[in-house]
Amino acid sequence: MKVLVIGSGGREHAIVDALSRSPQVDKIYCAPGNAGIARQAECVAIKDTEVEQLRDFAAAAGIGLTVVGPESSLAAGVVDCFKAAGLRIFGPSKAAARIESSKEFAKDLMAKYDIPTAGYRSFTDYAEARTYVAARPLPAVLKYDGLAAGKGVVIAATMEEADAALRDMLLDDKFGAGKVVVEDFLEGPEFSLLCFVSGRRVWPMVLSQDHKRAYDGDEGPNTGGMGAYSPLPFISSDDERYALEHIMRPVAEAMVAEGCPFEGVLYGGLMKTRDGIKVIEFNARFGDPETEVVLPRLRSDIVDIFCAVADGGDTELEWHDFATLGIVLASKGYPGAYEKGHEIKGLDRVEGTVYHMGTKAEGDRVVTSGGRVLFVVGRGATLAEARERALADVARIDCDNLFHRTDIGHWALND
Ligand code: AMP
Ligand code: GLY
Repeated sequence: MKVLVIGSGGREHAIVDALSRSPQVDKIYCAPGNAGIARQAECVAIKDTEVEQLRDFAAAAGIGLTVVGPESSLAAGVVDCFKAAGLRIFGPSKAAARIESSKEFAKDLMAKYDIPTAGYRSFTDYAEARTYVAARPLPAVLKYDGLAAGKGVVIAATMEEADAALRDMLLDDKFGAGKVVVEDFLEGPEFSLLCFVSGRRVWPMVLSQDHKRAYDGDEGPNTGGMGAYSPLPFISSDDERYALEHIMRPVAEAMVAEGCPFEGVLYGGLMKTRDGIKVIEFNARFGDPETEVVLPRLRSDIVDIFCAVADGGDTELEWHDFATLGIVLASKGYPGAYEKGHEIKGLDRVEGTVYHMGTKAEGDRVVTSGGRVLFVVGRGATLAEARERALADVARIDCDNLFHRTDIGHWALND
């Protein structure tokens, strides 16, 4: 079978890598891909939001299965477009992807179906939102209602910060048409439960945890994610079962009942609070960088899973016992402004796995071309060993414009 992966980051590199382990795959294409993906797949110069061009390419090249990485592609309606042309594609429809693209849709769904999450109210009017926030305890959690690449959430410690964020989101139209969800502030460790979902059927993946803050000690601004690892020793199998039975399965059922059945990866961003496990957010796709530590642990043939979801068949997931821990190498300045075009050396000295997140080939050189640039994954019998190996590989990579966190996994490793 020929397979097409849509996207250009570390997540897509990990999907390409998993596909390359399947004996059912003859050839992998990736649109648009990156310098690392190009070693395992043929890159096609089509952007992830150019859905008609992607469809035409898939039809002309005889692609048997397309796998969608990014939310931007889903929100552009790539799945609906492929399905209308009779092409097999793995991912949710635009209507089902609203569980990620609209915070209000997700919160209303959870309220209607009794899925545990933070209390909330949504606002379009700045003055009303300000009055509401001013009357409540700080910190205030303000979420812009739409896709904002991980930058649409503000946890405001003071009323001044809250006010500035409300102005950005409701008055200045910084992100587009303004609507804001104001949520209760929750506390506890966060974790990600990614599930393959096909209508009512739900297959959970192994748990993972992302690190959203830019610097060690969970300091600094929120990012798209600076590292991840799996498994999670502080989440018990009872917690996991609770999350599956009280959150993920009921949501899959709810989506069917609402007339927009979910097909693809449903990502539960969950928090273990004093009052039980609650939903922080849902995503309608593989997480990035969670995918890069979860898929290497998958023992089953991923093509069987993708096809079971897309075609409505059955499948089973098997996992390796080893631990994985991955570290993002990001451009200095990220998540703010950063330079591109810095040469990366030493990639051939790495002993474990490196997924490329934002790189470009320039002749025989590989250069930086994004905020998050590389994802270095270590594996080991324990998380401590996996981290040691990942850090050793990070030290083998040579580039003058990258930084990384050294404490990924600290929740689990108690340091
Ligand atoms: P989201 O994009 O909804 O995942 O939010 C980004 C990050 O903000 C989350 O990973 C949490 O760390 C934090 N966050 C979001 N909602 C809440 C909440 N209700 N209480 C505390 N922290 C939150
Ligand atoms: N790792 C967070 C996300 O994929 O949204």
